[in-house]
Amino acid sequence: MCDNCRPMKPPVLVTKRIYPEAIKYLEEHAQVDYANSDDGLPAEELLQRIRGKQAVVSQLTDRFSAVVLDQLDGVRVIANVAVGFDNIDVAAATQRKILVTNTPEVLTDTTADFAFALLMAAARRVVEGHRFVHSGRWTKWRIDLLVGQDVHHRTLGIFGMGRIGQAVARRGRGFDMRILYHDAARAAEAVEREVGAEFVSAERLLRESDFVSLHVPLLPETRHMMAAEQFRMMKPTAIFVNTSRGPVVDEGALAAALEEGVIAGAGIDVFENEPRVHPKLLKLENVVLAPHIASASVDTRRKMSMMAVENAVAAIEGRRPANLLNGELWMANARE
Ligand code: DGY
Repeated sequence: MCDNCRPMKPPVLVTKRIYPEAIKYLEEHAQVDYANSDDGLPAEELLQRIRGKQAVVSQLTDRFSAVVLDQLDGVRVIANVAVGFDNIDVAAATQRKILVTNTPEVLTDTTADFAFALLMAAARRVVEGHRFVHSGRWTKWRIDLLVGQDVHHRTLGIFGMGRIGQAVARRGRGFDMRILYHDAARAAEAVEREVGAEFVSAERLLRESDFVSLHVPLLPETRHMMAAEQFRMMKPTAIFVNTSRGPVVDEGALAAALEEGVIAGAGIDVFENEPRVHPKLLKLENVVLAPHIASASVDTRRKMSMMAVENAVAAIEGRRPANLLNGELWMANARE
């Protein structure tokens, strides 16, 4: 077939750099406009480059509010390269008949591993130890040098018993921990039994846990769910971990709680105004900070990239994407 006679592949925008194999796959199925950079497109340019596209492969730094969605004429799907999708107004997308997909499951264990790494690092003062050795301050062994908190046989409190919360609970069980959890809805009995977790009130979780780890989505009802009052309920020896979303925590209140010894330490991967970090947190020794990398293993980030483009291609080829968030739209389309 001559080149000109070939049917045009559907046009797709990729807003930011992803793994090359995902781009290769996408190019086999679509005409790709690739913003091959880590900077992200400024709002104006994003809108301009989306014009005429059928799919957008987006990342959590791209904002799709109702106002932005209003301007996406012809876009059939937004395929987010993340499990979280608080950057997209999914209800507004549904009203405008735009499918939205995410990348669940492939990052569950990777994220849980990292939550546990932060928990361990903060409890056992790994980063402080590293800085201490590195700076040449280590001159003698001392009985109470950098003593921290035991993890094994302690109580782990988990907010959010979804996939990642459950994976963290399993890791806790491996350390013989007692697991408490709280969520908007109680998990199925089979899940509670399998991960060995007890459903308790938020207040009981905060008061009884030695470690509190957040695994909730960012929603209006979870915004600042951890504020000064909640930190005050925690034990002064407790460690707080957040690998979910920054705005779930009042960062100023967290910094104050750490500074004033209301809690003993924290491991934080996500921030209220990324990539900015509350200046007080940067000065504290008792917090381990990471740049939103909980899902960042080579394998997982590759899988996330592939999953997102497969979702996009399915949608533009008229197949139901495997990770569709607004399935009701698909049902409605099928009825039409
Ligand atoms: C997600 O997937 O939502 C993470 O925050 C980025 O991997």
